Amino acid sequence: MMEGAKPPKLSHVAIIMDGNGRWAKSRSHLRVWGHIRGSKVVTDIVEEASDLGLHELTLYAFSQENWSRPVHEIQTLFSLLRKFLLRERTKIIENSIRFRVMGDISRLSPETQNLIRGLESTTLENSGLRLNFAFNYGGRSDIVETFKRLDKREISEEELGRSFDIPNVDLLIRTGGEMRISNFLIWQIAYAELYFSKTMWPDFTREEFRDIIQEFFQRERRYGSINAARDWDYSRKEARKNKELFNH
Ligand code: FPP
Repeated sequence: MMEGAKPPKLSHVAIIMDGNGRWAKSRSHLRVWGHIRGSKVVTDIVEEASDLGLHELTLYAFSQENWSRPVHEIQTLFSLLRKFLLRERTKIIENSIRFRVMGDISRLSPETQNLIRGLESTTLENSGLRLNFAFNYGGRSDIVETFKRLDKREISEEELGRSFDIPNVDLLIRTGGEMRISNFLIWQIAYAELYFSKTMWPDFTREEFRDIIQEFFQRERRYGSINAARDWDYSRKEARKNKELFNH
C-alpha cells in the first residue's frame, strides 16, 4: 500500500443470491423449496448487514430473465417477497432501515405493490442501512431508463453516474458457484471488488458474509493503474497528473 493511501471504503454491498434451485434439487426437493429456504437467509443477511453498520445492501431478488421460469416458480418468488415484507416490516422500521425496491413492480399484485410503496415511504427518512431489493430489474434497461429520464442528447459519465437510483457498488458477492454478472447493476460495479462463493444461497451464513467482508479489506484496490493508491479520489488525481505529463 502506498504511503498516505487510505484503506478501501466499504459502503455498498450487492449480492446475487444464486443456487436455490440446485440446493433444493440436490436434496430431492422442488426448486421452490430452495427459494423458501433462501428467503430465510435474506432475513439473516439483512440483519447482519444492519448489525455491522453497513451503509447500503442491494439484493437481486428477481431478474428480468427470471420471467422464463415456470409460472408456479415465479408465483412463489412473488409470494415470498410479500411474505418477507409482512414478516420483516416491523423489524425494518425498528432498526431504522430504509427500504426500496428497484425495477418494474407493475406485475406484482396490487396488495404487494401497496406494501412496497407503503414501506418505502414509511422508511424514507430512516438513517440506518439502505436496503434495496432489485426486483424485475435489469442493468442495461436501468442505464437506458435513467438516461431517458434525463431527457438529454449528450451527457457526461459523472452526470449519468449521479443519476442512478442505486449508487456505485464496493463489493459484489455472487453465491452458487457461477462466475457471471447476469445483467445486475452493470454500471455500478465498474470498480467493485467481485467475490464468487461456491456456497448455494440457502447455505449462506452470517459468518461467511463477515468473512467475505474481512477479505474485502485485505484486498488491494488498484482501480486499473499500476501502484495506484487504494483511494479513489487519490488515484483520480494521479491519473489527471499523468495525462497532463503525457500531453506535454
Ligand atoms: C436464484 O436461484 C435466486 C433467485 C432467482 C432469486 C433469489 C430469491 C430468493 C433468495 C428468495 C426470495 C426471497 C425474497 C425475500 C424475495 P436459482 O433458482 O437461479 O438457483 P439455481 O441457479 O441453482 O437454479
